Order: sequence, then C-alpha cells, then structure tokens
Amino acid sequence: MRVLVTGASGRIGSQLVRRLCEAGHQVRGFGLPGDKALDALGADVPVAVFRGDLGEPSSLEPAVSGVDIVCHLAAALTTHDVDDDRYVEVNFNGTYNLLNATRDHAPDAGRFVYVSSDAVYWPALTGQPDYLPVDENHPLVAGSVYGATKVGAEAMCRAFWRSYGLPFTIVRPTATASPEELIDPKSPFGRRWFLDSAIAWLQTRAQDGRSEGLLRELLSIEKRAQKLLLRTDLKGRSSLTMITDARDIARAIHLMIESPDAEGEAFNVGPSAPHTERQIVEEIGRVLNLEVVEISDSELRPSWYVSSSKARGTLGYQPKWTVFEMIAEAVGATTR
Ligand SMILES: NC(=O)c1ccc[n+]([C@@H]2O[C@H](COP(=O)([O-])OP(=O)(O)OC[C@H]3O[C@@H](n4cnc5c(N)ncnc54)[C@H](O)[C@@H]3O)[C@@H](O)[C@H]2O)c1
Repeated sequence: MRVLVTGASGRIGSQLVRRLCEAGHQVRGFGLPGDKALDALGADVPVAVFRGDLGEPSSLEPAVSGVDIVCHLAAALTTHDVDDDRYVEVNFNGTYNLLNATRDHAPDAGRFVYVSSDAVYWPALTGQPDYLPVDENHPLVAGSVYGATKVGAEAMCRAFWRSYGLPFTIVRPTATASPEELIDPKSPFGRRWFLDSAIAWLQTRAQDGRSEGLLRELLSIEKRAQKLLLRTDLKGRSSLTMITDARDIARAIHLMIESPDAEGEAFNVGPSAPHTERQIVEEIGRVLNLEVVEISDSELRPSWYVSSSKARGTLGYQPKWTVFEMIAEAVGATTR
C-alpha cells in the first residue's frame, strides 16, 4: 500500500517509516524543509521524501496525492517549548489542512490514522482523572492548550468521517521516548531527572513566576558532581508514570493500519504497567552511578495511568519494552 507518514523524522515517525518499509509498503515521509534527520532516514531506508509545512496546504498536495493510508504524526509537542499559538497552528489547523488535502487528493484513502495523546484526558497540572486506569471512555477534559488541540483534531477527524466518509483511527500514546533519551541530560526526559538540566529548564519557566520555590531549593543543592533529582509529594511519594518505547507505538500504528476493527475507533497505547518516578530515577542512578537527591514538591503532578486493554483485545497489541529494558539498552549503546 502507499502510505504517507507525517512527522517522519520524529522519534515515533522514524520508527514507523522503518517498520512500514520493512513490511513492503511504498512509504512517503513528509517533513519540514531543512529537516536533516529526514535526509538521514531517506539515505537509510527506501522512503520517498516530501518537504513542506502543515501550515501550507499547497505543500501537502504532492505528498498525499493518491495514497491509500495517511499516518499523521507531525505536531508541535510540549517538549518543543513553543507557545500556545503554535499548538493551535500546527496541531489543529495543520490537521484540518491535511484532512482537506486527503479528501481532495487521495479520494480512495482507506484510513486516516491520527496520532493524538493521552493529554486529552489530563485535566490540569494538579487535577485528578475521574477514575483509574483511564480508558477510552473517560471524558476528554484536556486542561492544557496542547491537549485541547489534540481533542479538537480528533473531533475534526470524526467530522471528516461523518461528512466526507474518510475512515479514521485515533491513537493516544502515553509519554514516548527513544531509549537513549532516558539517560541523556539534554533530552526532554533528561530534564525531568538530571539536576543541572532540571535547573536550566526551571530557570526559563521561573521568569513567569512559576516554580520559583522549587528552583530556589534546587539551586541550594551542592553540585560538584552530576546528580539525579527525584520529586516527591509532602509524604515522600513519587508520581506514577508510563513511558512507552517509540518502537512499541510504531508497532501499534502498524497493527491499526491492518485491522478493519480499528476503523472509527480510538486506542490508548502505553507500556505494560506504570512505574513510579522513584523506580525509574533510582534505576538510572544505579546504572550511571549517580546520587539521587529527593525534593518534596507541593506542585507534584498527581499519579494517573491509562489502560491499553482495548488495543490488546482488538489489535493484539503487546508492548515489547519496559522502561528498565530501555534504560539498559541505552547504557549498553553508550558503553559499546
Ligand atoms: N513523544 C511523546 O511523549 C508523545 C506522547 C503522546 C503523543 N505524542 C504524539 O505523537 C506524535 C509524534 O510525536 P514524536 O514524539 O515522534 O515527536 P517528534 O517531536 O519527535 O516529531 C514531530 C515531528 O513533527 C514535525 N513537524 C513539526 N511541525 C511541523 C509542521 N508544521 N509541518 C510538518 N512537520 C512538522 C517535526 O519536524 C518532527 O519530525 C505527535 O503527534 C505527538 O503529539 C507524542
């Protein structure tokens, strides 16, 4: 089949392109002009590269013309540190542009797979979900602008199904990483638990008055050596978190493309179980031989986790990597 993947150079998109090429599909990868990672991917696997911007409808036409499947992953993410306007432009308006282009230039497309996020369920920084684990029937109560653009784009996919007969499937991944990001202080994951990176990030946020108390506390820690940070609540408990390997999300999307039962459905996709931030940080500290510093934080995100039971039952989705296996793989790669 002819499959278009937007966000083809990203952590999930690049894995999906590799999988689909290996499975024998004719894959088109769409990315921004000047995206060097897309050039590197094109040199590695037989993907046809198309350049453009979701915000420029005319640049979408050549990429989408005549495809059988669209996998739409390109987005502005919270880890990109962009402002709210950018989420709306790329995630909501950009998805609308791509749906229009698909309807007009790929009239036989059998599926539009939209990669949304579990942020659609997350009420706000300190809010609680209605129940745990969060399944696909949970109300979509996004408390962030990013989450709201995902809710809106999902609704737009449904509208194109009902109005124009374009079949869709929605994927809602949990936090997703490549293994090496977990031990890289410069990655969006590293800044959660490498002390220096957490301070540098909080310094950019503290300019608008948020997190100033936490920043003061972190700055007072002696830092002759690299340390890891563990944020706990006032009772010493750390949050539950779900980190999925990008290769598992790519496998789930591949299963959705091939399953007729996925049409018109939304699926949570995550790892086999949640873990506490303490388990993850202590494991990174153990393998990298770094001290873990505990800080109690009154703004700690409440624990919540999603269920991937529907994806397991309907698609046969089975996550392959745990966060601990990802850490071990990343450490193995850096010491080879
Ligand atoms: N990584 C996560 O933790 C996570 C969690 C839940 C959902 N998601 C969703 O999964 C999808 C893929 O995420 P990822 O982690 O691979 O992100 P990524 O940042 O690695 O990749 C995003 C891709 O989108 C491209 N892009 C951004 N703006 C664009 C534009 N205007 N036009 C064309 N391309 C543009 C980027 O160049 C990049 O290739 C996104 O839709 C994201 O919202 C990611």
